Amino acid sequence: MTTPLRLGIAGLGTVGMGTVGLIQRHAALLAARAGRPITITALSARNRGKARGLPLDAYGWEDDPVALARRPDIDVFVELIGGHDGPALDACIAALDAGKDVVTANKAMLAHHGQALAEQAEAAGRVIRFEAAVAGGIPVIKTLTEGLAGNEITRVLGVMNGSCNYILTRMETAGLSYAEAFDEARGLGYLEADPNLDVGGIDAGHKLALLAAIAFGTRVDFANVALEGIGSITIEDIRAAADMGYKVKLLGVAQMTGRGLEQRMSPCLVPATSPLGQLQGGTNMVVLEGDSVGQIVLRGPGAGAGPTASAVMADVIDIARGLRLPTFGQPAATLRAARPARAAVAAPYYLRMQLVDKPGALAKVARVLGDSGISIDRMRQYGHEDTTAPVLIVTHKTTRGALDEALAGFEGTGVVEGVPVAIRVEVG
Ligand SMILES: NC(=O)c1ccc[n+]([C@@H]2O[C@H](COP(=O)([O-])OP(=O)(O)OC[C@H]3O[C@@H](n4cnc5c(N)ncnc54)[C@H](OP(=O)(O)O)[C@@H]3O)[C@@H](O)[C@H]2O)c1
Repeated sequence: MTTPLRLGIAGLGTVGMGTVGLIQRHAALLAARAGRPITITALSARNRGKARGLPLDAYGWEDDPVALARRPDIDVFVELIGGHDGPALDACIAALDAGKDVVTANKAMLAHHGQALAEQAEAAGRVIRFEAAVAGGIPVIKTLTEGLAGNEITRVLGVMNGSCNYILTRMETAGLSYAEAFDEARGLGYLEADPNLDVGGIDAGHKLALLAAIAFGTRVDFANVALEGIGSITIEDIRAAADMGYKVKLLGVAQMTGRGLEQRMSPCLVPATSPLGQLQGGTNMVVLEGDSVGQIVLRGPGAGAGPTASAVMADVIDIARGLRLPTFGQPAATLRAARPARAAVAAPYYLRMQLVDKPGALAKVARVLGDSGISIDRMRQYGHEDTTAPVLIVTHKTTRGALDEALAGFEGTGVVEGVPVAIRVEVG
């Protein structure tokens, strides 16, 4: 009889119970694939008495996840509690200290403490795996660290927050306002208790920072992810973008530039016909670009019990099989501190503004753009009944700096009313 791999699972919510259920359903399949049985020794959650819909009496129990992490009868500590500090972090540190491998779905913890945890794991000869932390069921960590290991990665981009994509899709397809789509998403339970983690781009920013570390061999640098949420996106922008052949997405982009590592999580326009443009609802998509492979597009469910359990178990099976990789794909000591770069990569921009309806107004706007070195690719003016006219402009590639100069210049023209909307166009 081969030695089983014994798990201690902390956190029995969506991901935790999905994982327990998968292990109960697929014990024989897991054992066959891993070459040894995978068993649950003990569990931990806040409330032992809570009904969770599956039989749990056969397993041990610890009220304190740190105690579970230290149990001598577990090999792997599976952290599915969440939160960047507190019990999740304490328990992971304790597990590594006690000589256990760690599997976690916790992007917030790794975005804040990934380097320190990776160093601790490697010093202790243990591994930390986190496939479920990024894009749920999509095996993107494995693709980057293993499948694309021979490539210099040139760009990572993606839609990695299903709730935001759901809101934007509902605005587009049902004509809902941002507030209406937000309320609908909240009613369906799609948003975190603190919805700003979703709509403010923070949750997706955590994921981008983890992917960037693996892609570019750099230390996780969440502090330098430029974050902008979707709260300022209006139905007018969604409609106007569609009219110009684009979709609005909360898009994460990480790219190594001549000036350093650029990491952005912000609303962007993508061509409606591109894979990212066609992404609907809560689905996630990650696009990976490597010098040899070209472009890889991964698409799938970014959340939910089944997809996250699928990712957690992929990590557990790797450990059972004896596959032991450094946390971020190369030894933690070799990860460089990246020089952060802001707005280093030029791009076309979409501008929407209200122009006073008088002769020469458009010419004044064009002159301000020209003075900042920005040329116009396309322009559209809509019919109107009042004294101002909505005008859309898509520029040729320009830098954010030049664009900000032009936006400031509009103020002095006397023909632009209010603050123009400027959204980057990213070609996916
Ligand atoms: N939900 C998803 O689709 C998804 C997708 C990808 C990644 N993740 C990540 O997976 C992790 C878990 O998310 P989730 O959605 O499963 O969360 P959840 O449903 O809120 O469950 C959290 C679990 O942690 C337990 N818990 C909280 N504080 C604890 C403590 N001090 N000690 C022991 N247990 C404690 C809770 O216990 P009680 O049940 O007793 O209250 C609950 O079982 C998070 O890091 C999240 O970011 C989630």
